[in-house]
Amino acid sequence: MHAAVLSAFGKLPRFAEFPDPVAGEGEALVEVRAAALNRVDRVRAAGDHYTSGSPDDLPLVCGLDGVGISPDGGRFYFALPRAPYGSMAERTVVPNWMLAPMPSQLSDAEAAALINPGMAAYLPIAWRGRLVAGETVLVLGATGVTGRLAVQMARLLGAGRVVAAGRDKKALESLTDLGADALISLDRPQDELSSAFAAEAGDDGFQVVVDYLWGAPTEALLAALTLHEFKAVEHETRIVQVGDMAGPTLNLPAEALRSAPVTLAGSAGSVPQEVRVEAFGKLCEFAASGALKLAVEEVPLAEAEEAWRRGDRDGRRQVLIP
Ligand SMILES: NC(=O)c1ccc[n+]([C@@H]2O[C@H](COP(=O)([O-])OP(=O)(O)OC[C@H]3O[C@@H](n4cnc5c(N)ncnc54)[C@H](OP(=O)(O)O)[C@@H]3O)[C@@H](O)[C@H]2O)c1
Repeated sequence: MHAAVLSAFGKLPRFAEFPDPVAGEGEALVEVRAAALNRVDRVRAAGDHYTSGSPDDLPLVCGLDGVGISPDGGRFYFALPRAPYGSMAERTVVPNWMLAPMPSQLSDAEAAALINPGMAAYLPIAWRGRLVAGETVLVLGATGVTGRLAVQMARLLGAGRVVAAGRDKKALESLTDLGADALISLDRPQDELSSAFAAEAGDDGFQVVVDYLWGAPTEALLAALTLHEFKAVEHETRIVQVGDMAGPTLNLPAEALRSAPVTLAGSAGSVPQEVRVEAFGKLCEFAASGALKLAVEEVPLAEAEEAWRRGDRDGRRQVLIP
C-alpha cells in the first residue's frame, strides 16, 4: 500500500510503499478515508514529542488518527493505530475499542480534522478548567486551528466573557465573529503585554485560561495575575496547559502562585474513559449542528511531503486523502 513513511526523526515523511497491515486479535483493519496533519504529528515526526519513540521504531507510517471504513462497512473515527502503522496510509490497523462512529453531516475530511483540536478545545474548558456558566475564559494562542475552536467552545459551554489572545493581527481580528468579546495582541513588549492582560482581567479576573503557547506569553500573564498586596480574592484562575508553541518551559516565580489563587493543570491524551466519551459526544453534536466551525483543506496523500513542508494555509487544517 501507499503511505506517508518516516525513515528518520527530523526528516520529512515520504509518500512511499509500505507493507500492508494484518489485523490481529481484537483489532480492526481500516480502509482510511482521511487523516488530518495535526501539530502532534509534526512534533512526533520531529522526534520532539514525549511519545515519539526511538530510532529502533523506524521506519513508520505517520498519523495518530483519522476516519475510515471498518470491515463491516461502517464509517468510523479511529485513533492510535498499532505501530509501525499510522493513519496516513491507504490502510491501517487499530484496536476495536478505538473505533467511534461519526455524524453523517460531517464529510470525511471534516470528521478527521475535528477530533484532535476539538478535544483540545473542549477538555481544557469543560473538564480540567471546570468552567461554570458565566465565567470568563482567556484563550492564549487563539489564532491557531485549536485556539479558534476554543473561542467557539467557550461560548458554547456558557462562558460569560471570552478573551482571545494571539499574534497574527488579521487572524486575531476574525475571532470576534467566532464569539470573542475582547482581543489581546501578543505582538508587543513583555511589560506592555502584561498590562494588557491585567486590563482585560479587571477586578473579576479570568477564571479559565486555555494555554496553547506557554513560554513568554504565559510569563506575562502570570506577572499580570501576581498581586502586590494582601487582599481577599473571590475568584480562582485555572490555567490549563495544552500546547507550547511559544516555548517548552516557563520561568515560574513562586509569588505568582502564592499571591493569588492561581492553579496550573494540563490536558492531553491521558483522560479517564468516561470523560473522553462524553467529550467526544458533545464535540460531534456541536460540529454536526453547525455550531462549531472548522475549516479544512483536502490534500492528496501523494502530496504528504509537500503538505508537511507548507503547513496550514489561512487557518485551514490540512487533511490527507489516500
Ligand atoms: N494537548 C493536546 O491534547 C493538544 C491537542 C491539539 C493541539 N495541541 C497543541 O496546541 C498548540 C496549538 O495547536 P494548533 O492545532 O492550534 O496549531 P496551529 O493551528 O498550527 O496554530 C499554531 C498557533 O501557535 C501560534 N504561535 C506559534 N508560535 C508562537 C509564538 N512564538 N508566540 C505566540 N504564538 C505563537 C500561532 O500564532 P499566529 O498564527 O497568530 O502567529 C498559532 O495561533 C500546539 O502546541 C499543539 O501541539 C495540544
